[in-house]
Amino acid sequence: MQKTRFDGIYYIEKGKNKLLCTENLTPEKRFFEEDLIRDKGNEYRVWDPRRSKLAAGIKKGLSQIGLKPGFFVLYLGASHGYTPSFVSDIVGKEGFVFALDFAPRVVRDLVFLCEKRKNIAPILADANQPEKYMHQITEVDFIYQDIAQKNQSQIFLRNCELFLKKDAFAILCVKARSVDVTKKPSVIYQQVRRELEKVITIVDYKILDPFEKDHCIFVCKKK
Ligand SMILES: C[S@@+](CC[C@H](N)C(=O)[O-])C[C@H]1O[C@@H](n2cnc3c(N)ncnc32)[C@H](O)[C@@H]1O
Repeated sequence: MQKTRFDGIYYIEKGKNKLLCTENLTPEKRFFEEDLIRDKGNEYRVWDPRRSKLAAGIKKGLSQIGLKPGFFVLYLGASHGYTPSFVSDIVGKEGFVFALDFAPRVVRDLVFLCEKRKNIAPILADANQPEKYMHQITEVDFIYQDIAQKNQSQIFLRNCELFLKKDAFAILCVKARSVDVTKKPSVIYQQVRRELEKVITIVDYKILDPFEKDHCIFVCKKK
């Protein structure tokens, strides 16, 4: 197992491939049929960049992600918890993940995950209505957003304004087709960039093809 430039994220070489991994916070338990690898007494979970835009961004060469062990995280668009479970490994026992989604069916699955992983709390709420969940969360060290909404950048900026500490990082995954199906993804990415830059500093950006078609990822820092 080798370290990456990011705390809590490792890789293992398998043939020509480098598999991304995190150390399993719940040894011998897995929730998404991911491969488990034992190395020098520790257990690691293999993180698939085709299922996770954060893993895809790392594979595409993001220079920084701003996520560290011990961090408190607000995760918007947690779905069944695949990427949140890896974020939970990265922040570890000292950190915490508020995992929010507005679809009751997926939050039901999240509840099962959170029963086993004590550093995640499921929140059933609309990221567009932060006033409805502000009483359930604290100020955080990191925000991650992966929701397919037309106004995804406004939702992101509003949540950063309300909950993100100054100088802290936040990641926005953009699905171009949710913003406007009639425009080229590159045009949408530029449009989102202009909206973000008015309020927040963009520190890195990657297009996620071929892992996720027509998606990009912005790493931002609060001013
Ligand atoms: C692509 S999935 C997220 C996948 C997840 N981030 C992962 O990598 O494992 C997008 C999720 O965003 C949720 N979503 C979309 N709009 C939302 C909103 N306004 N508030 C909360 N969740 C939302 C959907 O219900 C869906 O579960």
